[in-house]
Amino acid sequence: MDNLLLRNRFTEQFALRLPLMQGPMGGISGPNLVAAVAQAGALAVLPIWSMSVAAAIEKIAETKALTSKAFAVNIRADLVQHEHIHAAVDQGISIIHLFWGNPAASSQAIPNGIKMIATVWDEASAKAALDAGACALIAQGVEAGGHVLGTTRLQELIPAVCSIAGDVPVAAAGGLATAEDIKQVFALGARAAVFGTRFVATTESSAHRDYKAAIVNALEDTTVRTECFDGAWPNAPHRVLRNSTFTTWEKAGSPAPPNRPGEGDVILHTANGQSIPRYFISPPAQGMTGEIEAAVMYAGTGIGKIQDNPAVATLIEEIRVDLLAG
Ligand SMILES: Cc1cc2nc3c(=O)[nH]c(=O)nc-3n(C[C@H](O)[C@H](O)[C@H](O)COP(=O)(O)O)c2cc1C
Repeated sequence: MDNLLLRNRFTEQFALRLPLMQGPMGGISGPNLVAAVAQAGALAVLPIWSMSVAAAIEKIAETKALTSKAFAVNIRADLVQHEHIHAAVDQGISIIHLFWGNPAASSQAIPNGIKMIATVWDEASAKAALDAGACALIAQGVEAGGHVLGTTRLQELIPAVCSIAGDVPVAAAGGLATAEDIKQVFALGARAAVFGTRFVATTESSAHRDYKAAIVNALEDTTVRTECFDGAWPNAPHRVLRNSTFTTWEKAGSPAPPNRPGEGDVILHTANGQSIPRYFISPPAQGMTGEIEAAVMYAGTGIGKIQDNPAVATLIEEIRVDLLAG
């Protein structure tokens, strides 16, 4: 009998060596990480939604120079980024990943033959993604690091989404970091797992070393789902590590902007001298300087399970071997 863990509708559809997807992570999953994941046989996703079209084309080209394997690009559904989609398809991208909102309007720009996958967080969003033509769904639970619309735990979300997905395979995202976690979501009906935070702490991620260390050093779940870090993207809940900016704001009674502690302080500088204020959405990346600890550090509830900072190929091969053992 085939081992479903290594071969199923999800792995077949995207020609993968294992049922694993790297969650797109703005500012963190750049060309090096995406290419390494694709090379290792998992589904890799390059976020391009926060960039200009010209910058997106450059990042896609940079990634393609590092791998000949297919990878997806990540687009924000609510922004209806048709130009980004057209540019990505022109660059040879064959998988478009839509998140945050109903994918119907964005999917209009996706030509026949290009695969669309969508992040969903409840039954209504799953139905909308299926109606828009998604060939796989990512069920994102409340456990997930980064921006997260859902309030439902994977334990309930996966069966609910699978029950309406029919033949369309479902990948589970949120708090997952080990081969054991993959087996657990399979038992609930998922056919792949998405790792986000796990890939932040890898050699190829663009995260600042202090951000990687904060994940590796956390012995248990110290994350919180909040709307604290709203600079450039208000009213969008996100799961983060509790850091000094968060705890100071919480102690002050969680006031609304513009009356938050340290509002407007510049806490980081990028390598090319750009200033990043407190409460801004950009996580600390390589080359940034300043108060790294005070910047937003997105992380899922699985951080306690992440205790090293391996090369992507090593991490993925270890997981594959574990899955192969059944
Ligand atoms: C640093 C970080 C940035 C993220 N940025 C994005 C993004 O730009 N687009 C997106 O669809 N999801 C984003 N996410 C969510 C991930 O793709 C994925 O759903 C999530 O990380 C899974 O939960 P986990 O972190 O517990 O593994 C981000 C997550 C993290 C940790």
